[in-house]
Amino acid sequence: MKNYFRKHKLALGSLAVLGLLNICQANNDMDSYIDDLMTRMTIAEKVGQLNQAAIGFDVTGPHTSTHVEDKIRNGLIGSILNSHTVPVVRTLQKMAVEETRLHIPLLFGYDVIHGHSTIFPIPLGISASWDLDAIETSASIAAAEASSQGLNWTFSPMVDIARDPRWGRVAEGAGEDSYYGSLVAAAMVRGYQGSDLSATNTILACVKHFGLYGAAIAGRDYNTVDMSLVQMYEDYLPPYQAAVEAGVGSAMTSFNDINGVPATGNKWLLTSLLRDDWKFDGFVVTDYNAIAEMIAHGYSPDGYYAAKSALDAGVDMDMVDECFLHNLEKLVTDGKISESQIDTACRRILEAKYKLGLFADPYHYLDQDRADSEILKKENRDFARELAQKSCVLLKNQNSVLPLTNGAKIALVGPLANTRFDLLGCWWAAGSEDSVVSVYDGLKNAVGSENIILARGADVSDDKFLIDRMGGGIARDGRPAEEMLNEAIAAAQQSDIIVAVVGEHSSMSGEAKSRTDISIPESQQRLMRALKQTGKPLVLVLMNGRPLALEWEYANADAILETWFAGVEGGNAIADVLCGKYNPSGKLTMSFPLNAGQIPVYYNIKSTGRPFNPGDNALYRSAYIDAANEPLLPFGFGLSYTSFEYSNITLDKNTLTSDGKITATVTITNTGDKTGIETVQLYTRDMFASITPPLKRLRSFERVTLAAGESKAVTFEITEPMLRFYNSKLEHLSEPGEFRLYIGTNSRDCKEASFQLK
Ligand code: NOJ
Repeated sequence: MKNYFRKHKLALGSLAVLGLLNICQANNDMDSYIDDLMTRMTIAEKVGQLNQAAIGFDVTGPHTSTHVEDKIRNGLIGSILNSHTVPVVRTLQKMAVEETRLHIPLLFGYDVIHGHSTIFPIPLGISASWDLDAIETSASIAAAEASSQGLNWTFSPMVDIARDPRWGRVAEGAGEDSYYGSLVAAAMVRGYQGSDLSATNTILACVKHFGLYGAAIAGRDYNTVDMSLVQMYEDYLPPYQAAVEAGVGSAMTSFNDINGVPATGNKWLLTSLLRDDWKFDGFVVTDYNAIAEMIAHGYSPDGYYAAKSALDAGVDMDMVDECFLHNLEKLVTDGKISESQIDTACRRILEAKYKLGLFADPYHYLDQDRADSEILKKENRDFARELAQKSCVLLKNQNSVLPLTNGAKIALVGPLANTRFDLLGCWWAAGSEDSVVSVYDGLKNAVGSENIILARGADVSDDKFLIDRMGGGIARDGRPAEEMLNEAIAAAQQSDIIVAVVGEHSSMSGEAKSRTDISIPESQQRLMRALKQTGKPLVLVLMNGRPLALEWEYANADAILETWFAGVEGGNAIADVLCGKYNPSGKLTMSFPLNAGQIPVYYNIKSTGRPFNPGDNALYRSAYIDAANEPLLPFGFGLSYTSFEYSNITLDKNTLTSDGKITATVTITNTGDKTGIETVQLYTRDMFASITPPLKRLRSFERVTLAAGESKAVTFEITEPMLRFYNSKLEHLSEPGEFRLYIGTNSRDCKEASFQLK
C-alpha cells in the first residue's frame, strides 16, 4: 500500500481528499440513478418498495403474507423476509427484475442472529467472551454464509439492554451494561457490513429493537415501557447510537410503547432522536406486524390511521402487515400525508439496494459454488468451536474438581446431555441440528465412549402449564420419570464423577418466552438432588438463554460451567473446557440473581438515601428482610482453572483536568499453574453529582493472557470524557469533584483508588 502511495506521489492527505471525492462521486451517481428511477415510478410502485412480505421456510410472526408472487410481479413488494438459498432467491429475484415494469430488485432479509448455517453460541453467550474481535468475526462469517445463499440483509444486531432475566429475549443481546453493549453493537455492525456493502460477502445490518424493548415491564414480552429520559439516555439508548455511529444501514422499530407512544408511531424516537440528533441515514423497518399492532395498543383506530402514524413518525418499510400497501395512496389522496413523505421513504430503501450493488447486478449474491464452499466450511466450524470455548463461564470450581481427571469414569446425565437441537438456541437461521455436535458426542470425541455412562435422568420439564403454553414444544423422552431417575442414579454410582447437563430447553428463551420463575425446572431439580445424594462429585453444565436463579445449585454442586446454547460446535467446545484443553475465560454480562424476587437486578445500581451494607441492621434500610440485596453472581463474574491476584491500584496523579489524563496501573499475577485469560475491568463512581450516580459504571476493560506465575502491569488511561453522564437537561458532561476508581475481576471484587476531577 505504502509503495503505491510513493509511486503515485500521493500524500495521505490528498488520498483522503480523493477518497472523499470518490464517495461524493458514488453518491452523485446513486442520487442521479435514483432520481431518474423515481421519476418513472407510480405512487403505487413507490409504496410497493415500502412493503415487506414474509414468504419461505420460516414463520417468525403471527401471520404470513399472501399472493406474494403476484404482488412481486406487480411491483408491490420491495423486500422479502424468510427466504434464502440460491434457487429460491433467484426465482423471486427474477420475478422482480425480469417480470416487472421497472425491474427493481428485491431486498432479502432474514434473522441471521448468531450465525447463518454455522451457528455460534447465542448472543448473550458470545457477549460473555468479552472478545470484540471475535464477536466481529462471528458477524462477518455469518454475513459471508448468509450472502452466499442470496441474503443481503440481517435483522441483527439486537442491542436491547436487559436487566430483567424473566424476559426471554435477553438471550439475543449483550446483557445489562450500556458501555459494553455499545462496543458489541458496533463490532457486530462492522462484522456484517464490512468496509464495502456492495461486496458479495457483506450484508446490511439492522439495529433493533428501537427502542428500549429490553425494559418491558415485568419482563413480559411486548409489554409497556415507561422510563425517564435520563435513564433512557444513560442506560438504554447508547448501544443503538453506537450502531448508528458504526454506520448501520437499517433500524427496526420495537413492539413496545414508550411512555405511552408505540415505538412504531413514535416521531420523537424515529425522527428527532434517530435522524435529527444521531444523523442516521439508513432506513427504518417496523418489526413484524407492528404498524397494525398500534390498533391493539389503543393508539390507532384502524390500519389507515396506523399507517399514517407510522409514516409520520419516520417508518420507511412495513414488515408484513401491509398497512402501508393498503392505505398510503389513499392517505395521499385524502390529503393526510404528502407524496413527498412516501418519496423520502422509497428513496431510502432504493439507496440501500443501490449500496448493496443490487442495481448493478441483482444476482450478484447468488452463486451456488460460493454457497457450497462457504456454508459450514471447516474454518467456520473451527472458529465456532473457539468462540463457544470463549463464551463458557466457569461459575464455581470447588476443590478444582474441573478439569476432569484423565481416565475418570463420567456419568453424563441430564435431559440436555444428548441433544443437538438445543445447542442451536433461539433463532438458528439456516442452522440444522444435523450439523450440531452434542455434549455427548463432544465428550466421546475427547475421552472415548468407554469412559462415559449416559443417562437422561429427567425431562427438561414436567410442568403441564409450561408445556401447554409452549405448544408442547419440549422434547420428552416418554419413559416414566422414576425409571429415568433410577437409571441416572445407577450411572452416577458406577462413575467417578457426575457431569449433569441441565437448564432450559432452547425454546424456553427467545421471543415470547418470558418466565416468572427463572430456576431450573423441578423435574431437573429432583434429578440434581438425587445425584447429590450419591456423594459423587457433581459438575453442572448449564444450558440456558437467560440468567437463572441457582441458589441450591451454587450451594450444592462442586462445579458449575455456564455454556448457554453453544452452537454447532458446542459439544466439542464444552468438552474442551471440561477436559482442560481450554481454560475458561468468559465473564457474565448479566447478573445472576438469587431469586426472581430481586429482579430487576444489575450491577450499576444507585446508593439510595438509606444504603444497606451487609452486616448492618436492615431496619429502615434499603434491603430485603428475606434475602440479600446482592445477586448470586455479579456482572463481570467468571472463574478460571488458574487464579489471578490483583495488586493495589497506583495512579500517576490524583487530579484530573478536562484535557489531561490519569494513568492507573494494576499488576495482575497468575498465581496458579495454568496459562489463563483474565478480563480486567475498570469501573468509576462519581461520589456526588447533579443526578444521583450509580455505585459503579464500567468504563474500560482489557483481556490479558498470563502464563502460570507470570505478572503483567495493566494500565488504563482515565480521561474526562470517560466520566460523563446525562444531566437533567440531557447534556452529556462531567462534574468536578471526587471520583472512585475500581479495577477488578468482576463488578463486585475490585481494588479501589480515588482522584479528583478539576
Ligand atoms: C419479530 C422479532 O421481534 C424480530 O426480532 C425479528 O427480526 C422479526 N420478527 C422478523 O422475524
